[in-house]
Amino acid sequence: MKRKIAVLFGTRPEAIKMAPVVRALRESSCLEPLVIATAQHREMLDQVLTVFGIQPDHDLNLMRPNQTLAGLTSRLIASIDDVLRDTAPAAMLVQGDTTSVLAGSLVAFYNNIPVGHVEAGLRTHDMRNPFPEEMNRVLTGRLTRWHFAPTASSAQNLCDERYPDETVFMTGNTVIDALFEARQHPDKIARSVQDGRRMMLVTTHRRENFGEPLRRICAAVLQLLEHDPVLEVLFPVHPNPNVSSVVRRLLGKHPRVSLCAPLDYLSFIAAMEAAHLILSDSGGVQEEAPALGKPVLVLRDETERPEAVAAGVARLVGTDTNRIVSTVCQLLTDPGAYLQMAQGASPYGDGRAARRIVDILERELGCREQPARDAAAAAQAVLIGAPA
Ligand code: UD1
Ligand code: UDP
Repeated sequence: MKRKIAVLFGTRPEAIKMAPVVRALRESSCLEPLVIATAQHREMLDQVLTVFGIQPDHDLNLMRPNQTLAGLTSRLIASIDDVLRDTAPAAMLVQGDTTSVLAGSLVAFYNNIPVGHVEAGLRTHDMRNPFPEEMNRVLTGRLTRWHFAPTASSAQNLCDERYPDETVFMTGNTVIDALFEARQHPDKIARSVQDGRRMMLVTTHRRENFGEPLRRICAAVLQLLEHDPVLEVLFPVHPNPNVSSVVRRLLGKHPRVSLCAPLDYLSFIAAMEAAHLILSDSGGVQEEAPALGKPVLVLRDETERPEAVAAGVARLVGTDTNRIVSTVCQLLTDPGAYLQMAQGASPYGDGRAARRIVDILERELGCREQPARDAAAAAQAVLIGAPA
């Protein structure tokens, strides 16, 4: 009988990044997924479940309009506990740094269920930025048995925090697996924008950007539209009322701004491919845009994803209106600067992260003796600090 691995997620990005893991678990000869959707997000989660054909085994349906961190956390703890007591999985996987991740890891710990943390080791070392995500991932690290770090620098962060070498694995980020899977279905990608326009794609949702920073971002968008008469803006608006009310009020009436509801994942990939450049405070978008050869300007003061910045394909521009405007203007007017950022790079993975994670779990849970099916994948699933 296959052993059940709980795969817990609640928000859009967690579901996108866990979909390849669910698929790899379905292909395992000795493990199988038990999908627990907290539905910390409702509509945006459902979009992802539809695209990837995932039917949760348990849907906790926890989202409330304008939910508070404490209110959501308390609902998560009680509901996840019920499911874990009933199902007693052999292990549980969580992904990233959301409230669902922290609550899920804590409840797994209470129930003596080992936790695998997918996308482990990202750090800004500033507990208020991103808030509360930096605290969530640091605390989740303490509750984790297997840390699946996406990059060398995230693995190094964990080693610096003195996690035992044999618990830290560098696997790549499953976001690239999901992206590759989506791009295999160009026929299914709804063309939400016409190719050939000079389109700037914008997304924001971070708590640190609520209020004045978001107003400064909107002011920059308006100045850029004034500066460049052929520029068009596509802005899928996050449903968080702290975002949507401000964005709709400040940008809703401009004839060259298209505000829309969150796009389903395949349409969003198409929008990124059609974009000339991208402004975003999103984590996932920072990882996907470089792989698509699209310059991404990060609307934050710090990032836990330094690799794309180091590769010259992403730039941290913060939320200062003048700085955003001058950086975009440079990219719009200087083809050399634009091409340097549009060279394409994939510092976050090679599309085989989920396979590596499942291979490691099979080995760690003692249910597979034979060599990994994907030898290349296994070769790169390095134990950090292990002798060569
Ligand atoms: C959450 C995560 C953040 C992640 C982001 C991805 C936390 C603390 N924050 O932020 O790390 O980057 O998701 O998008 O876990 N809403 C809807 N429908 C939806 C989704 C959200 O209406 O499908 C609205 C609801 O009013 C909800 C609010 O947005 O209460 C906030 O959702 P929440 O998950 O608490 O925070 P996010 O800002 O989405
Ligand atoms: N995304 C999407 N539709 C949209 C905007 C984003 O499917 O309208 C995808 C995007 O491709 C990425 C993920 O959502 O994979 C990022 O989610 P978000 O920005 O909400 O969260 P973060 O990554 O910052 O945690």
